[in-house]
Amino acid sequence: MAAFLTFMVALFFSATYGSVSACERCARQGKAAYSPSLSPLPRGGGVCGYGAKAAEINGGFFATGGPRQHRGGLGCGRCFQMRCRDAELCSSGGVRVVLTDFHRSNRTDFKLGGPAFAGLAKPGMAHELKRLDAVSVEYKRIPCDYKDKNLSILVEEQSKRPSNLVVKFLYQGGQTDILAVDVAQVGSSDWRFMTRVYGPVWSTDRVPTGPLQFRAVVTGGYDGKWVWAEQEVLPANWQPGQVYDTGVRIADVAREGCQGCAKLDWK
Ligand SMILES: *[C@@H]1O[C@H](CO)[C@@H](O)[C@H](O)[C@H]1NC(C)=O
Ligand SMILES: *[C@@H]1O[C@H](CO)[C@@H](O)[C@H](O)[C@H]1NC(C)=O
Repeated sequence: MAAFLTFMVALFFSATYGSVSACERCARQGKAAYSPSLSPLPRGGGVCGYGAKAAEINGGFFATGGPRQHRGGLGCGRCFQMRCRDAELCSSGGVRVVLTDFHRSNRTDFKLGGPAFAGLAKPGMAHELKRLDAVSVEYKRIPCDYKDKNLSILVEEQSKRPSNLVVKFLYQGGQTDILAVDVAQVGSSDWRFMTRVYGPVWSTDRVPTGPLQFRAVVTGGYDGKWVWAEQEVLPANWQPGQVYDTGVRIADVAREGCQGCAKLDWK
């Protein structure tokens, strides 16, 4: 019953907000700035808490988002494509980045580290581009594509066996949001819900013993659906600091749902 209710909540969510999230596929105008100090190891791991993983997630192409991108932490791990408009300096394809942290200032929508910012520029023009304070960009949310990665679970260091489990999802593909997460012992239907701590981090202090399976409500565009990892994901002796492969891949759950918005012919 609880599961059914969660599913209905997800459908309600997507019916209510679907058009909003779907139209995140539309291109928007904004500002991006080069941030030489943007490192894969922000103090404290950054708001999203990816820490050193930030550098691996998208081949080093990561960015921090401004207040508009935060979305109560849902913005963590979202992927964007952007290009700048200066015909002399900017490449036409632009660059794809993943959000791994946030900054407070409204003046720039994105701050990009070296490799990502250089990706905005035409070959040989990165140096010129970096000298500008902030560049005007067009950007849109795009599905994240982690080609050779399944959705994975990092058991956070603050987890305390046997009952307290804090996990972070890594490699969440598609243009998706995770809205609910349940955990159960493998083979059991006694699902226990987890609570979002922030962004990609979920916790419970009632984790079952034994090997664990997971399921999640995932939305994208107009649709929500359950994604199941019914085989063993965490072994009975799960360890803080370890990453476990769920064996499932989250791709887009919905077909293109955005009508009447400007599509950009980016490759
Ligand atoms: C950021 O923008 C919002 C609304 O657009 C505004 O209310 C807020 O004061 C701005 N904050 C700063 C620091 O400029
Ligand atoms: C992803 O999961 C499948 C099982 O569903 C597995 O066969 C495959 O090896 C996994 N991929 C990686 C990169 O671990």
